[in-house]
This record gives sequence, C-alpha cells and structure tokens, in this order.
Amino acid sequence: MVYLDNNATTPLDPQVAEKMSWFIREHFGNPSSLYPIGRKVKELLTEAREQVAAAIGAHRSEVIFTGSGTESDNFAIIGVLEARPEKKQFITSAIEHPAVLETARYLERKGYTVHYLPVDRYGLVDLNYLDAVISEDTALVSVMMANNEIGTIQPLEEIIRIAGRYGVPVHTDAVQAFGKLEVNVRKLGVDLLTVSSHKIYGPKGVGALYVRKGTPLQPFIHGGHQEFGLRAGTENTAGIIGFGEAARILQERWKKDKDRLEKLAEKLKSGLEQKISNIVFNGHPEKRVKTTINFAYPGLEAEAILLALATKEIYVSTGSACSEESEEASHVLLAIGLRPEIARSAIRMSLGRFNSDQDVEMVLEVMPGIIDQLRAISPFQPEV
Ligand SMILES: Cc1ncc(COP(=O)(O)O)c(C=O)c1O
Repeated sequence: MVYLDNNATTPLDPQVAEKMSWFIREHFGNPSSLYPIGRKVKELLTEAREQVAAAIGAHRSEVIFTGSGTESDNFAIIGVLEARPEKKQFITSAIEHPAVLETARYLERKGYTVHYLPVDRYGLVDLNYLDAVISEDTALVSVMMANNEIGTIQPLEEIIRIAGRYGVPVHTDAVQAFGKLEVNVRKLGVDLLTVSSHKIYGPKGVGALYVRKGTPLQPFIHGGHQEFGLRAGTENTAGIIGFGEAARILQERWKKDKDRLEKLAEKLKSGLEQKISNIVFNGHPEKRVKTTINFAYPGLEAEAILLALATKEIYVSTGSACSEESEEASHVLLAIGLRPEIARSAIRMSLGRFNSDQDVEMVLEVMPGIIDQLRAISPFQPEV
C-alpha cells in the first residue's frame, strides 16, 4: 500500500500504540477520583498536557483537551463570541476547513455579521480586505495557519498585527501546520490555536485548544469541572495519553522528517509535472506546506483518478476527506479562482512520516498511464 493521504489522517505511530495499550491495560481510574488509582491517571493526564503544551510552546495551564480539531475550532469561536456578547462581528477566511466555515454559518443564522476574507490565486488571504472590515465591533478573527487542501501558509503575523490595532483576539486552526511547520504560540502571538492528535500520528477523536491566559472564553460543554471547568465530561484518558506521546515524539523528530519529506515531495511534484502534460498546480509555490501537493487534471474527474489509483493500492484524496462525499467542487479551489470543472479534477497527495522513496517512485510509475487511459476515454477536451 502507498498511503498518500496524510492530511486526512496519519497512521498511529507504533510507540503511541504501545503507550496507549499499556495505559488501557494498567489504568482504568477516573482522573477526578481522589484515591490513588484516580490520582495516578490525573498525573498521567498532566504529563500529556505538558507534552502537548511543550510541542506548541505553551504552558500546560493554557491547553484544554477536546474531542477533535473540529470541537476545538467550534469552542474557540463560539466560546470567545459568547464571552463578548456586545460584539457582533466575526471575521474568517473563505478557505477555512468546514469546522470553522460551518460554525461561521451557524453564527450568521444567530444574527452575527460574518466577513469571509477572499484569497488570491495562491490561497493567500486579502489583508487589505481585513483592514477594511475589522472594527471595534469585531469579536474574533479566525484564519487557519496552513490550508488542508493546497497547503498555503497564511500571513498570520500580519493578521495579528492588524487585529491588534483594534484589540481583537485571533484564533488559528493549526491542525494542518502542527507537525509540518514550527507551531509556537508565543512566537506567533495568537490568542487561541487548534491542534488535532490524528494528524500527528496520534489517535483519532482527541484535539486540543490553546487559550492564552486572560482570553475571555465561555465554556462550551457544560457539566463537571474537567479541563479547568471549560470542557466538562470525563476525559478520553487513553486518547489524551496517546496524543501526549505523539506530541513528545513529534518534538524529537519533526525537523528531520520535514527535510526528508520536503525533498521527497519535490521529487513527486516535479516528476508529475515532467511526466504528465497539461496539469495545473494549486497552491503557493513557496509559502506552502511542501508535503501537500494538489494538481488539477483538466478534462478528467478526480474521482475516476482516485479509484484507478486505489486499484493499485495507492491512496490519495480529492480535495479534503470531509468534502469527499459531496458532489460539489472544493470551496477552496473555487475560492482561488478555478472553474468548477477544473476544480472537480483535482487530486491531493499528502506525504507523511512513513512514506519512502519507493512510494514516490511507484506513483510516478503508475500515474502517467492512468491519466493517459482516462484521457483516452474522456468526452471532455482538456482546456486550461
Ligand atoms: C484544517 C483542519 N481543521 C480542522 C480539522 C478537523 O480536525 P478533526 O478531524 O480532529 O475534527 C481538519 C481535519 O481534516 C483540518 O484539516
């Protein structure tokens, strides 16, 4: 199998699996219990919190565990807006993950004004637009650090500078940046930041939200006192322990992985460009998570390419996993200006820790033939 869909999810690191399996076997206590078996689990949760905090340059008291990246995004946005009820405006970008975009639509239905920052053809947000719409009435700006479909890295520093002039807090969805770029909350200067365990070789169903001390935030799930009283519910203990271990391993090796994987990704990208004519690269040439490679194959349907590759046990994606089941073209590719029929032909390949040179060679060997075959039977004339 050649797995090239690491932006959708990553395989569990064997060391993480080992740690989780040890934990599940040895520790069943409730971390809220006061006797020793509960205390021990609490201690292990604190250790995991420290590991995740260390990986993003935060203090452990600023890290709240949640049930997913999606929940962290919802929590950040709704939590901040509800804490500042007098402010009725929210600003985000047109190419956010549905975890943010659908939350924005929900807010619109609740009567909030939402501004969606447009992007250029590379996916970079329009800072002038931000400057024009931000006001004293803005409760929060939320712009992702790196895009999941095309990898484009947003100018967060500039966004934070503009928001700062109005005292507006900034949230960033760093789910796709974490593990691939340096994510340091202090250096970035963000107020809230989302990460998710299953994108860094940890288990699924666990995320975290960084909340800078002093940021007003209303609890989102009500109940017990867990997670500093901000996210009630008995913790997903094994998931959190696994997330902590994944974050620890990440810190040890992400830079080395990055160098190796970027070279591999470049080989894949330039190989595809050389071997297949008439393809359209999507994303910023430089300001991009380099391991995310998105090409459109005009005249073809992405799904046909995906299925043909799957018969060879090569797994890739059309746009994002979340929009895969919908017939619509990717909102990200439409926002960067692609025509719907071109957007519907786009395939994303995303590399990760367990990919090798052989994986890339295999794709470069198989892909040109698949595209030729599909083009031969395609009723559409490729037109870029
Ligand atoms: C940018 C981005 N944000 C949020 C999420 C959602 O994270 P989770 O799958 O943990 O809910 C994803 C997952 O694909 C993502 O790519």
